[in-house]
Amino acid sequence: MPITPTEHIWMNGELVAWEDAKIHVLTHTLHYGTGVFEGVRAYETADGPAVFRLTDHMERLHRSARILMMDIPYTVEELVQATKDVVAASGLPSCYIRPIAYYGYGEMGLNTMPCSVDVAIACWPWGAYLGDDALTKGVKLKTSSWTRLDHNTMPPASKTTGNYVNSTLAKVEAVKAGYDEALMLNPQGFVSECTGENVFVARDGRFLTPPLASGALEGITQHSVMTIAKDLGIDVEVATIARSDVYLADEMFLCGTAAEVSAVNSVDDRPIACPGPMTTAIGEEYHKAIRGQTDRYKDWVEHVS
Ligand SMILES: Cc1ncc(COP(=O)(O)O)c(C=O)c1O
Repeated sequence: MPITPTEHIWMNGELVAWEDAKIHVLTHTLHYGTGVFEGVRAYETADGPAVFRLTDHMERLHRSARILMMDIPYTVEELVQATKDVVAASGLPSCYIRPIAYYGYGEMGLNTMPCSVDVAIACWPWGAYLGDDALTKGVKLKTSSWTRLDHNTMPPASKTTGNYVNSTLAKVEAVKAGYDEALMLNPQGFVSECTGENVFVARDGRFLTPPLASGALEGITQHSVMTIAKDLGIDVEVATIARSDVYLADEMFLCGTAAEVSAVNSVDDRPIACPGPMTTAIGEEYHKAIRGQTDRYKDWVEHVS
């Protein structure tokens, strides 16, 4: 999906013109994949644009950096305010937001300790990542030939830029083979997640979703959806999932900030009932929550002004 420019990008404490938000070709993170980032969305609400779980995203950005021993020179509160500023400056009612902290220009070599840390936050209009009808029509998954990150190689709890080489290898392989997304197994052969989404698999009337220990990112949408499911009376367990659980699923969905809630209609050409009734109920409630339409989830919606 092409990027539509807005007027400003927040860089190191200032709003700069979109076309001036540039970095040097010798920027450390460009060479070594050492940045940390977030994917966030703002939605139109009755009280103007609001960013969904913005504080939680910025806390996770700090946790990602902590794993890399990177010191982000802005607090969570400062990053929250910077995001609100850049969204307000865009004038957009809803948008996708990309904060990134990276080692900048000035040092080279693998020891990051002397490197400066730069931070940028951009936003632009962006539609549903897996298509507008992904909640109703569903998406086709293929189990990847690529293994998901191992905890002792690239820590999956950190949204580190370099980790996404693994995701892009799997995504391109799946799309070239005619599928929408790749289902990724961890080095032990258990289900981990997709290239940019957590997975939920229904067996015997309840949903299962893999834990961090299986190599899954601790998704903010995953957490929201688990809360919503429980409030709807649907059981959800964080559990190890085998490939056979997926082939025998009663229903299945993916979730993430970019993909929102997307039903799965098949895995490796084995059909799955789609959209399942529990998936539809959770997806519809999620769409209300992100737009501030449900009182019980109002705290998740952080208004821009
Ligand atoms: C690998 C991976 N898994 C899961 C997710 C879903 O996380 P969230 O719901 O916080 O966007 C993302 C998106 O950030 C991701 O990149």
